[in-house]
Amino acid sequence: MTASPQRPDHAPQDGHSTGQPPFVSSSALESDPHTVFRYWRARTPVIQREDGACLVLRAADVDTLLTDDRTRQIDGGLYSRIRGVPPGPLQDLLVESLLMSEGDAHQRRRAPMSRVLAFHAVESLRDTIRSAAERLIDDVEAGARFDGEIDLMAAFCAPFPPLVMSRLLGAPPSEAEAFAQWVYQVSPAFAPALPGEDMASMVEGAGRLTAYVQQSLAKAMAGEGARSELMENMVAAIGADALTQAEAVAQLATLIIGASDTTRTAMAIQTGLMLATGQAWKRVGDDPSLARAAVAEALRVQPAVGSVPRLATQEIVLDGAIIPAGRLVSLSTLSAMRDPARFSDPDAFIINRTDHPRWPLVFGGGAHRCIGEALARLELEEGLMALSRRLPSLRLAGPPPKIEGYAGIRRIDGLRVAL
Ligand code: HEM
Repeated sequence: MTASPQRPDHAPQDGHSTGQPPFVSSSALESDPHTVFRYWRARTPVIQREDGACLVLRAADVDTLLTDDRTRQIDGGLYSRIRGVPPGPLQDLLVESLLMSEGDAHQRRRAPMSRVLAFHAVESLRDTIRSAAERLIDDVEAGARFDGEIDLMAAFCAPFPPLVMSRLLGAPPSEAEAFAQWVYQVSPAFAPALPGEDMASMVEGAGRLTAYVQQSLAKAMAGEGARSELMENMVAAIGADALTQAEAVAQLATLIIGASDTTRTAMAIQTGLMLATGQAWKRVGDDPSLARAAVAEALRVQPAVGSVPRLATQEIVLDGAIIPAGRLVSLSTLSAMRDPARFSDPDAFIINRTDHPRWPLVFGGGAHRCIGEALARLELEEGLMALSRRLPSLRLAGPPPKIEGYAGIRRIDGLRVAL
């Protein structure tokens, strides 16, 4: 599919004149979302999938609907039904999670984690995060010299976020490898269903991860193991009856899941993008002060999370297009971050872009805005600085990696590189 302004193959009849958003197939969206969104964003603020879910495309609308009461968060029970999650550990996790709750329950569940993840608190982890990156790069370097090329996704991007999380949990780094495996098993549940997906594996991952967290929490409650402010806050919240134990387990599991696949994917995407654009890699290697801007731009051009799901609490009319009450709404941050009404030359990767907003849409907005934004940025910046400084001649060993998906957490099928 090309970036042609002509009506693309996937474009069906336009029902916009009747207020009904035009239909677009999920397979077209999966394989080339930017082309599909570019075409429709210029013509209508909303499109709909074959299952009736309405995708909001323009930045101003996405911004507004993230915070106003015409939409609400989807609760875990409804999400499980829509997503086909059977009763069991994954459903329990979704039902108890802060991500799928609202109002008082959401605040209670979020509060014990917010201070630990605030920008100033996370900054104190910079040196630890830097040395975790450096240690992983030692192995990457050795592997690439031995084999000629290496999958950076498996060797660096995947193990890095769980390693950082183990530090927050007060767990030994050796445990990170185990829980990483379970997290990557369960995380596809946080994106739209794919043909042939393995729900049993997602459920198993959720079961193992929550059992692990349950054990770690029990140790913290018994005063055993290393001290961690996050765990202490959880124990205090249980002691004060602000959270049940099951709720505490679900919040910690959500945090580990939220921290891992998102950051793994973002790290792989940003590295692939910068290696593909050649000079960007060298520029950041020579001048690490550019890392912050490069990370922000990579998150805009190819975000690791493509949308934020909500439910329409009432009929919503956007520039004549109608989203019926009760409809599943996908606020497409992926589309919004390339909206020419917000960004000049929106499809181009421009490191020193000056039109980034203070609160970028890639981390959502409103009460559920990503709690791990500061940590994610720090990991992505330190990872980029360390990789580009230590491995200045790194290059893609093959065509640029394909980034798939348009909603929830996106996918990248590996990142083969050579020194
Ligand atoms: C590049 C990396 C990341 C991206 C793109 C990202 C994106 C997002 C988005 C869009 C949301 C809002 C979901 C909604 O409103 O429905 C969110 C929520 C959340 N994120 Fe992240 N995230 C990232 C990294 C992290 C990290 C590192 C952590 C943990 C340390 C984390 C933990 C969470 C949690 C727990 C929530 C739920 C917050 C709530 O419901 O109040 N995320 N994230």
